[in-house]
Amino acid sequence: MKAQGRETRTIWLEPDGRTVGIIDQTRLPHEFATLRLTDVAAAAQAIKSMQVRGAPLIGATAAYGMALAMNRDASDAVLADAATTLLATRPTAINLHWAVEAMRRHLAALPPGRRSDAAYERAAAICDDDVAINRAIGEHGIAPIYATWRKKGERGKVEILTHCNAGWLATVDWGTALAPVYRAQQMGIPLHVWVDETRPRNQGASLTAWELREQGVPHTVIADNAGGHLMRQGKVDLCLVGTDRTTANGDVANKIGTYLKALAACDNNMPFYVAAPSPSIDWSLGSGDAIPIEERDPREVTEIAGRLADGTVARVQVTPDGSQAANPAFDVTPARLVTGIVTERGIAPASRDGLAALFPEFRAAVRA
Ligand code: MRU
Repeated sequence: MKAQGRETRTIWLEPDGRTVGIIDQTRLPHEFATLRLTDVAAAAQAIKSMQVRGAPLIGATAAYGMALAMNRDASDAVLADAATTLLATRPTAINLHWAVEAMRRHLAALPPGRRSDAAYERAAAICDDDVAINRAIGEHGIAPIYATWRKKGERGKVEILTHCNAGWLATVDWGTALAPVYRAQQMGIPLHVWVDETRPRNQGASLTAWELREQGVPHTVIADNAGGHLMRQGKVDLCLVGTDRTTANGDVANKIGTYLKALAACDNNMPFYVAAPSPSIDWSLGSGDAIPIEERDPREVTEIAGRLADGTVARVQVTPDGSQAANPAFDVTPARLVTGIVTERGIAPASRDGLAALFPEFRAAVRA
């Protein structure tokens, strides 16, 4: 996708073939800045501090984190330590475990002398696969958008509501929930995106709005509390969100507030789609109740960051001194509220059988 008019991925290998470039997402939307990761500690810190975020990009960064570790020392001890360091960063996105385990298994089978090159090759393949998966999600996810457009009449505009950032910034490229939006734009389907601001970290207001603007997609940022009202007014046609972990029965963990949007969509008979690349599906969990929910620093709730009139970016406190705050970062939307799960293989009903029909190779791994 485009950043400042240039085709860019969110993560790349630098020309030295060893260090890794990322976009520092904590600086957006006010500044487009890139960073160079040189070791596994820096990769872990980038994930923890959310310089990179979004489930697929967390996985891709962790894969390169393993490569950075192997570049310094390809011993068994460092392989194990790197995996432990990366796995401790963020608990909810299953892509992190998926990528670290894929790297660990692949590298453990090789002699140390071959691990470094192999790690970079495997990390690059994980990134390329992510792009291909998301492109396929875009192709499959176009169906409900196209159907809505036809139903509204050719002069109508498809109104989509999204939560958090499940666009290209959350992946290596294309995004998951926004891939069908970008595909629809390419096809000339007129659309408009309602962007939930997504407190407390405002990934909608700062990241989704930024990337939609960069791609020229019409959009409007709304307060998180406005979605239900807009749905009741008939101003939304469908909701499309991402996921950090979808369990084998079709329950979906995503950014806090997703569940409330699904409830409002259900009450308004509105389709609620979740875009889930297969590395975001946790076949080992039979229900969303078992998903670990990340608790983040309460200061993300008590404070807010923004650009001042003089151009500097500052944090300000929005709560009284002494008030306590809690900051659960994700919630679980039960499968019964999800119209369909858009995967790289097609749209599955949000159920055990629906997902297993698209991914029969995992049927044996699914626990009751
Ligand atoms: O806390 P974040 O910004 O990493 O949360 C991101 C989300 O909740 C996304 O919706 C999810 O990772 C899907 S990304 C394609």
